Formats: sequence, C-alpha cells, structure tokens
Amino acid sequence: MQRKWFIVILGIILIPTCVWLLYDNGENQHAQQLIKREKQLEIAEPSQSTQTREFDLAALADRGLGQPLPTEFLSSWVAEDEYWFVGYPRADVGVEIPFPPGKIAKASTNTEPVNENPGFVGPQSCRECHREKFESFIHTAHFQTSRLASPETVHGAFTEGRNEMTTREENVTFEMVQRNDQLYQRVDFYGWRFEVPMQIVFGSAKMGESYLYWHGDQLYQHNVTYLTDPDRWVNSPGYVDGDAAYARPIPARCVECHTTYADFREERNHYTPGSLILGISCERCHGPGREHVAYHQTHPDSREAKAITNPRQLTRQQQLDICGQCHSGTAPRKTTPFAFRPGDRVTDHFDMSKAHLDDNRVHTSNQLNRLSQSKCFQESEMTCADCHNPHQSERGNMRLFSQRCIQCHDAQACGMAEQIGERIVENCIDCHMPLRNTKKLRFETAAGKLFPPLRDHHVRVDELATEAYLKSIDPAPAVRK
Ligand code: HEC
Ligand code: HEC
Ligand code: HEC
Ligand code: HEC
Ligand code: HEC
Ligand code: HEC
Ligand code: HEC
Repeated sequence: MQRKWFIVILGIILIPTCVWLLYDNGENQHAQQLIKREKQLEIAEPSQSTQTREFDLAALADRGLGQPLPTEFLSSWVAEDEYWFVGYPRADVGVEIPFPPGKIAKASTNTEPVNENPGFVGPQSCRECHREKFESFIHTAHFQTSRLASPETVHGAFTEGRNEMTTREENVTFEMVQRNDQLYQRVDFYGWRFEVPMQIVFGSAKMGESYLYWHGDQLYQHNVTYLTDPDRWVNSPGYVDGDAAYARPIPARCVECHTTYADFREERNHYTPGSLILGISCERCHGPGREHVAYHQTHPDSREAKAITNPRQLTRQQQLDICGQCHSGTAPRKTTPFAFRPGDRVTDHFDMSKAHLDDNRVHTSNQLNRLSQSKCFQESEMTCADCHNPHQSERGNMRLFSQRCIQCHDAQACGMAEQIGERIVENCIDCHMPLRNTKKLRFETAAGKLFPPLRDHHVRVDELATEAYLKSIDPAPAVRK
C-alpha cells in the first residue's frame, strides 16, 4: 500500500518534469535550429523563387555549387557528428550531408601520405611469377570486394525506369544517374535536389554493393545500396527509409576489411586520397610483398622464397587468425589500422572481450566464432583452408564443399544416408550449415524489411534445415482430399 502511494506521488512529480524537460529541450533545439538556419541563409547563395526554377545541377557542379536551399527549409550544423541537417516543415524525415546545403562534395588538395606504406604493392605485382594463382584469384570475392566505381564496375541499373528508389515518403526519392563516365546518386527532397558522386564500390556484389565518396580527405557512405537479389536499389543496411543520409563516415575498420591498404590519417574517416590499394590482395594473407618481389626480380634463379609468409608453415591458431582479422566480427582496436601481419594473433590487435560476434552492426562476418562452436572444429585440427581454397572462387559449388566434408567423414556415417541414398554426396551443406537470416543485417525498403541470408558456420545437426532440404529435393506429393 505504502509503496503504491509512493509510486503515484513520484509519478505526479516526475511526469510533468519530464514533459517540461522534453518540451524545453525541443524548444531549445528548435530555437537553435532557427538561429543556425539564419546564419546558414546568410552564407547561402542568393536564391529568389528557388522553388519554381528547375536547376541545371551539372552546370552548377562545374562551379562547385549545388541547388541553393529554398528559404522554407530548415538547416543546421550538428557539430558533434560533423554534418549538416536539412529538414522541411512538419516532415519527420531529413537530410544529413557533410558539405553545406547549396554546395557539393569537394576533392582534397592535400594528397601527401602521412604514414609510410609498409610494403603493400597490390596483386598485379604477383602476376609475373605466380600467373596461375593470379588468374584464378581475380575471380574471388576477396579480389573484387572493392574497386573504383564506373559504368563497368557497378552492377545496379542506371537505365530509366530501373534507376529509381522511392521511399515511404513520396516527397523523398533517389535517382541513380550517369553523366559522361561519372555516376551519381541524385536526391529529390521535397523539391530540393542534390547530387553525390559514386566513387568507390565496396562489395563483390554476390550479395550487394555499397558506394563511397570523398569530401576533402574524408570517406562517406551513400544512402543507396544495390542488392543483387532481388536486383534492386535499397537503403544501405541500418539506414532509415525516407531519410537521405550521406554523412555516415567510413571508419578504418571498414576499409581494413575491404581493401588491401589505405593511408589512414585520423579518426573518424580521414585518408590520403590516392593511397588506397583496392581489392583484398594476396598480401593480407601472405604479408606485404615489396621485399619479396624485389628479391626475386633481382635473383631470378632462386627457388627459395624470401620475405613472404606461407600460412601452411604457421601454427593452427596463427592460420585461423589470418582469416580472423576480418572474419571474427568487430572489436575495439588496440593497434593502428593495417598493422596486422600473418603470424600475429587477432587478440594482439583487437580487444576480443568486447567483440560484437553475432552482430557487428554492418553484417555478421563472424565465421570464425561460429565455426569454433562446432564439434568438427573442436575435435580436429581444422582450419578455414580445409573447406576453402583462398585462390579460387568456389561459391555455389555444393558438391565440391561436400567433398571437403567427406575428407573427414564417411558419407554413410550420416544418419540420413540410407534415406537419401547416393545423392547425399551432392549436398551435405544445406542440412548441416544452413543459410540463416540475421536480424542484424537489415535493409529498410518502402515495401518492408529485407534480411539477406548468410551461411551459418556452426556445423551441426539441424532438424529444421533437414526438413526444409528434404522438401526441396523431394517435394511432398499434393495431399488429396
Ligand atoms: C619475380 C618473381 C616473383 C614475384 C613477382 C613474386 N614472387 Fe612469390 N615466389 C617467387 C619464387 C621464386 C618463390 C619460391 C618458389 C615457389 O614457391 O614458387 C615464391 C614463393 C612464394 C610463396 C610461397 C612461400 C613459401 O614459403 O612457400 C608465396 C606465398 C608467394 N611467393 C607470394 C607472393 C606474393 C603475394 C607476391 C606478390 C606480392 C609474389 N609472391 C610475387 C617469385 C616471385
Ligand atoms: C582483409 C580482410 C580479409 C581477410 C584477411 C580474409 N577475408 Fe575472406 N572476406 C573478406 C571480405 C570483406 C569478404 C566479402 C567479400 C565480398 O563479397 O565483397 C570475404 C569473403 C570471403 C568468402 C566468401 C567468398 C564467396 O565468394 O562467397 C570466403 C569463403 C572467405 N572470405 C574466406 C576467407 C578465408 C578462408 C580467409 C583466410 C585464409 C579469409 N577469408 C581472409 C575479408 C577478408
Ligand atoms: C570485420 C570486417 C568487416 C568490416 C568492419 C566490414 N565488413 Fe563488409 N563484409 C565483411 C565480410 C566478411 C563480408 C561477407 C559477408 C559476411 O560474412 O557478413 C562482407 C560483406 C559486405 C558487403 C556485401 C558484399 C557481397 O556482395 O557479398 C558489403 C556491401 C560490405 N560488406 C560493405 C561494408 C561497409 C560499407 C563497411 C563499413 C561501413 C563494412 N562492410 C565493414 C567484412 C567486413
Ligand atoms: C585469403 C587469404 C589468401 C589470399 C588472398 C591469397 N592466399 Fe595464397 N595462400 C593462402 C593460404 C591459407 C595458403 C596455404 C594453403 C594451404 O594450407 O593449403 C596459401 C598458399 C600460397 C602459396 C604456396 C602454396 C602453394 O599452393 O603453392 C602461394 C605461392 C600463394 N599462396 C600465392 C598467392 C598469391 C600469388 C596470391 C594472390 C594472387 C594469394 N596467394 C592470395 C591464403 C591466401
Ligand atoms: C577436418 C576434418 C573435418 C571436416 C573437414 C569436417 N568435419 Fe565434421 N566433424 C569432424 C570431427 C572430428 C567431428 C567430431 C567427431 C564425430 O562426430 O565424428 C565432427 C563432427 C561432425 C558432426 C556431428 C556434430 C555434432 O554436434 O554432433 C556433423 C553433423 C558434422 N561433423 C558434419 C560435417 C559436415 C557437413 C562437414 C562439411 C561441411 C564436416 N563435418 C567437415 C571433423 C571434420
Ligand atoms: C537431409 C539432410 C542431411 C544431409 C543431406 C546430410 N545430413 Fe548428415 N545428418 C543429418 C541428420 C538429421 C543427422 C542426425 C541423424 C540422427 O541423429 O539419426 C545427421 C548426422 C550426421 C553426422 C553425425 C553422426 C553422428 O551420429 O555423430 C555426420 C558426421 C553427418 N551427418 C555428416 C554428413 C555428411 C558428411 C553429409 C554429406 C555427405 C551429410 N551429413 C548429409 C542430416 C543430413
Ligand atoms: C566445414 C567446412 C567449412 C569450414 C571449415 C569453413 N567454411 Fe566457410 N563456408 C563453407 C560453406 C559450405 C560455405 C557456403 C559456400 C557457398 O554458399 O557457396 C561457406 C561460406 C563462407 C563465406 C561466405 C558467407 C556467406 O554466407 O555467403 C565466408 C565469408 C566463409 N565461408 C568464411 C570462412 C572462414 C573465415 C572460415 C574459417 C574461420 C571458414 N569459412 C571455414 C564451409 C566451411
């Protein structure tokens, strides 16, 4: 009884306080926004009748400008996160951009590297002596995972009718456009339009690809991502449908998992333009190759490898950690970006006690952690290379992967062997390593949410997966009434 009254009284005091605080805070923010907006309007280009005129964005861009912000729009600089917010009266969606409204992203004039490249030369340099490996390697997801954006390297469609992304807010639309050889994402936000160039692609497009652009020496992600299945433009993972968010910084961790090397200047997203070696090269698994290449070029008769790591000569844990630098989720860093070398331990570079294993916000990339929960892994000396040949693209070849299981298991030892018969060697995978949608990898679209499935690396007996697979190979005959 006493406790109940206490709560009621507390409520009477607290609720109005909270409401007042919220109100005050909102008012404050609103007032600040208005002040900032005033300031913003002073520096904006003079703009009469901006609403009615159709702006030539290409001509403005040549002068380093964008469409001026019409007067009824709100805009403010969010200092903490370093972006401009643009709103429209009563709209619950907004724009986030790192460059001022009415301007465009600008190129950096400072191209001097800050750090010395520790010897990464890129995969092309390995070609002359390791031709066979090189020729097959260029078809892998690793090699293709980052590249310069061009009409040839971007998979999404730019043709009319297929180059649009609409949102739940009919006044916010995106259009992917090509001018000469340059690709852009063009945003129409309540009639105010701006363009952001697509300069770098992340993702081999087996699942999808995201786009990056430079503003000065800072790298940012685009709002719109391409999803291969169902061949569509969607909001980037974690983005809110209806917003036009172009101020998400690309942190070093992201670049470190998707490129060979970049000269990292400072947090959160400053890099030396021109320093990036795109694609994941041989050297992320074998170590920087400059010295190895120089040695063998000057000693063409030497058959003994110098200054390069062969993972097979490392311990099991060291081999796992080569893959683990990018395949064991994300964790806070202990060393500088790109410091990991084959032979190092992941735990020397990342604080794995604080790792996001099943959820790394961007996607799972947790194969090492999931695999380590399997009996296969715990009761053998298994490494990733037991199932994956890093020099070849083997994606989708279930028979080949099943052969890798059969290197350790007798297919007949499977409890399902009798029921499935000879076909069992075609696919152990879908039953024991099922595809799983993860709630963490989410794309918002106007039509609802999408969750692309990933292969679960916890090898195990799974009843649901077994049921689904049996149905897929032998659909039950229609039930007669
Ligand atoms: C000028 C020729 C040349 C170039 C260029 C070259 N290598 Fe080699 N590499 C060799 C020779 C010779 C060997 C020793 C024989 C062998 O294993 O094929 C070797 C061996 C290797 C080995 C096996 C090491 C071992 O201990 O078994 C790896 C791994 C390797 N190279 C990686 C690379 C990478 C990565 C690049 C590009 C950055 C590269 N190589 C460029 C000549 C070259
Ligand atoms: C520098 C980071 C990095 C390292 C090191 C790395 N990977 Fe990857 N790996 C990636 C990224 C990023 C992708 C996704 C590429 C894409 O599809 O865009 C990937 C994709 C893959 C795929 C999927 C290929 C496909 O076509 O479906 C396999 C398998 C794989 N990695 C295995 C390995 C193994 C095994 C090792 C260690 C020998 C390893 N990776 C080391 C970053 C890395
Ligand atoms: C810890 C390493 C890691 C980090 C950090 C990371 N990725 Fe990835 N990324 C991967 C791996 C591994 C895959 C393959 C799918 C998986 O395992 O989740 C992948 C897949 C992708 C794909 C889909 C590629 C395809 O077609 O399959 C895109 C696009 C992508 N990443 C973009 C990004 C962007 C943008 C960032 C930073 C904001 C980022 N990634 C951060 C490792 C990483
Ligand atoms: C994702 C990691 C990864 C990448 C990328 C990679 N390798 Fe390897 N490489 C390995 C592993 C792991 C081994 C040991 C294989 C084993 O244990 O069966 C190996 C073995 C080798 C060997 C020696 C053994 C052999 O098969 O001859 C050479 C040479 C080699 N790699 C060259 C290259 C070259 C050249 C490239 C790029 C064109 C490259 N590798 C890319 C992981 C990688
Ligand atoms: C490097 C050897 C090796 C490889 C490769 C391998 N396994 Fe295993 N696996 C083992 C060992 C060892 C065990 C534990 C002893 C046992 O149950 O046979 C095991 C256990 C299992 C189990 C029982 C799991 C449990 O929780 O009881 C299944 C199911 C299984 N493996 C399926 C597979 C499938 C499917 C593949 C291929 C995708 C595979 N294994 C690849 C070595 C391996
Ligand atoms: C249709 C789904 C399905 C396929 C395909 C399949 N398995 Fe199985 N597997 C199962 C199920 C279910 C069990 C558990 C059966 C039981 O307990 O009676 C099992 C059990 C196993 C076990 C554990 C045996 C034990 O008692 O510890 C191994 C190892 C195994 N499978 C390996 C394989 C390999 C290797 C392949 C491919 C050659 C394969 N499985 C194909 C569903 C499948
Ligand atoms: C027991 C066999 C096995 C082992 C060991 C294994 N994988 Fe895989 N992996 C697979 C199979 C099967 C696929 C599915 C390939 C496909 O769909 O084409 C796969 C897919 C992947 C993918 C693509 C992810 C996706 O969902 O599309 C990545 C990345 C990957 N593996 C990384 C690794 C890494 C890193 C390791 C070591 C920590 C590893 N794998 C160990 C069997 C294995």
